[in-house]
Amino acid sequence: MVSQQTTDPQLDAVGRPMPEFPEPPPLASHGPARVIALCNQKGGVGKTTTTINLAAALAEYGRKVLIVDFDPQGAASVGLGVSPHELDRTVYNLLMERDADIRSLIQHTATPGLDLLPANIDLSAAEVQLVGEVARESVLARTLRPVLDDYDVVMIDCQPSLGLLTVNALTAAHGVLIPLECEFFALRGVALLVETIEKVRDRLNPRLEVDGILATMYDPRTLHAREVVARVNEAFGDTLLHTVISRTVKFPDATVAAEPITTYAPTHSGAAAYRQLARELVARGDAA
Ligand SMILES: Nc1ncnc2c1ncn2[C@@H]1O[C@H](COP(=O)(O)OP(=O)(O)OP(=O)(O)O)[C@@H](O)[C@H]1O
Ligand SMILES: [Mg+2]
Repeated sequence: MVSQQTTDPQLDAVGRPMPEFPEPPPLASHGPARVIALCNQKGGVGKTTTTINLAAALAEYGRKVLIVDFDPQGAASVGLGVSPHELDRTVYNLLMERDADIRSLIQHTATPGLDLLPANIDLSAAEVQLVGEVARESVLARTLRPVLDDYDVVMIDCQPSLGLLTVNALTAAHGVLIPLECEFFALRGVALLVETIEKVRDRLNPRLEVDGILATMYDPRTLHAREVVARVNEAFGDTLLHTVISRTVKFPDATVAAEPITTYAPTHSGAAAYRQLARELVARGDAA
């Protein structure tokens, strides 16, 4: 059933009562981090946009957040103002060099409390080079360990594939956040993604859980978008987060400006949506 009452602020996009998500209390101390992988093998669904803007919203609430750019396209790095071609050392070096110092690779961003482990096209070689490594699926988990106590949340922005890099991200993670674009074929491929998550949980990382499915690029004026979220709700129930991210050109605009929307357009509804997502995840226990 597609909800007719999509504009009632008391209800979410699928007609469920919308809880109040209180402002998270300040943290007296930081760490150990909960690690969240942003994952969907479908391209262009909002993984990077969600990584940057959710991380910035959590940082606004006083959380210390590290973004791990784990896509050779380096979109998260670019979106935070780092020019990928000027980097000579990236997450690639961390994966491939036994004695690489992770702290020397992490950069501060213009957003206080938000750090970045950048990536560039070098990372594309790691997929092949890691194949011959011992415990090749847990290289990222091992190399992130020294800084987990410095952060409250680590967010890994995955590339659109279910290859060895993404398996590394899932092995390093406590939870997976799945952005899903509100369009007709959104659910195609989600079964395969869930199967991959279950395999990683069984074989490599028993603590791994699906934190939530986030509907992105939602347009409440179209019946179509409402049908997509209704189907996701039928299939996944409470895994579908109450917060949905609407489609707005402010997101690509913020990317061009190389800033999170929370500073690029702090009063825009898109910034408010990512702040609400941050509060929802804290309320669910998925973030500190
Ligand atoms: N809510 C939104 N409204 C409008 N445009 C959006 C929204 N979210 C993301 N976009 C835009 O859609 C494009 C794809 O988003 P994004 O890069 O976040 O997806 P992705 O899943 O990381 O893609 P990839 O699979 O290539 O890594 C970008 O141009 C981004 O600015
Ligand atoms: Mg991306």
